[in-house]
Amino acid sequence: MKVLVVGSGGREHALVDAILRDKGTQVYCAPGNAGISRQAECVNIKSDDISSLLRFAKSEGIDLTVVGPEQPLAAGIVDVFESRGRKIFGPRKLAARLETSKAFAKEFMKRWKIPTSDFMTFTIKQTDELRRYLEDAKYPLVLKADGLAAGKGVSIVGSRSEAEAELEKFFVKKVFGESGERIVVEEFMTGTEASVFAITDGEDYVVLPPAQDHKRVGDNDLGKNTGGMGAFAPTPFVSPGDMEKVKSQVIERVIEGTRAEGYAFRGCLYCGLMLTEEGPKVVEFNARFGDPETQAVLQLIDSSVLGLLQTAADRKIGSYKLTLNGAAAVCVIAASQGYPDHYEKGKEIIGLDDNLPGTKIFHSGSVIKEGKTLTDGGRVLGITGVDKGGEIKRASELAYSRAQKLHFDGMFFRHDIGNKAINFELKKGPNR
Ligand code: GLY
Repeated sequence: MKVLVVGSGGREHALVDAILRDKGTQVYCAPGNAGISRQAECVNIKSDDISSLLRFAKSEGIDLTVVGPEQPLAAGIVDVFESRGRKIFGPRKLAARLETSKAFAKEFMKRWKIPTSDFMTFTIKQTDELRRYLEDAKYPLVLKADGLAAGKGVSIVGSRSEAEAELEKFFVKKVFGESGERIVVEEFMTGTEASVFAITDGEDYVVLPPAQDHKRVGDNDLGKNTGGMGAFAPTPFVSPGDMEKVKSQVIERVIEGTRAEGYAFRGCLYCGLMLTEEGPKVVEFNARFGDPETQAVLQLIDSSVLGLLQTAADRKIGSYKLTLNGAAAVCVIAASQGYPDHYEKGKEIIGLDDNLPGTKIFHSGSVIKEGKTLTDGGRVLGITGVDKGGEIKRASELAYSRAQKLHFDGMFFRHDIGNKAINFELKKGPNR
């Protein structure tokens, strides 16, 4: 079986690693990174170069292509591959709009009665209307760029003056380009965040254990928003009752709604949730696996991850039996100084071969040059600790012990990944 994974980050490394658990599988990754090249054959094709990817899949006889990032999905890679009879895991372009247009996603949720916050949408042509709305609005508010913005298009504003400053960024300075020419203004939700992945073939689905991401750059959720500085799974904050609601009020409505509207969602539906006092509500959808949640969640799966992706692509996920191994996992991201703003690349990474049982390193941004492994991104490594006994505390200790043994100039990481779950479990006490 030959599998091509598209992408170059930690999520793709975790997917490659998990797919390789199936013996006899040959895995390619385009374009991959230094860490992935230790496990799979990296192919020098960019993840948005759809025609070259298709040519490669044909010439190499790839049996299944798995798409990691959102850009190729937005560009219609699944439509192209499927129209040429090539098997691929991911949603088509129209279904991917649940991620690629925040306004589309909110309207969809409204139509299908999926719990989410109240919202209004404004285009750049409605700047005056938006200014008037901001005069009387109740703060805090959330402003979101409609299109893809690499996780950076969301601002929480506490006052009218802050909102005006953001408006300037979106509509005047156009820092998000066309993506920010339409804004979704949302009610601010309070609660605990969680990420739930549903793998669906457009009809049936399998839900993976829930995770929690850490989007802010600093400890205690302070500082700027990032692509994600760490994750743990499973999160104890999603109760069995919450999970039932997520299934019936979110996942099943997306499956039903996208089918009814003629663009059945197939692939990984990422439900970004806020666990509010009124129950789980959707903060955002993504049309792919989350990063860095994937680097934790896939460690909890005992059954074949390749089988999961394959049965979804084959439209027979009903025949897949998910089994879990009872583990808990914590992934800590090591980032380059300056991230999420300006950072330097090309720093040598030291300590990669210094193995510690119960840990894995997933590369997010790295490259090999002249025999050395160098940093090549803002997020560089995801250090995952796995406790087979299911304790987040132990998994976190493992991840941090491994992180201490790694080094590159300017390397930093958060020190509190997993702490929320650890404190929650402690509060519940031994008789939980
Ligand atoms: N963890 C956030 C994302 O994947 O978008």
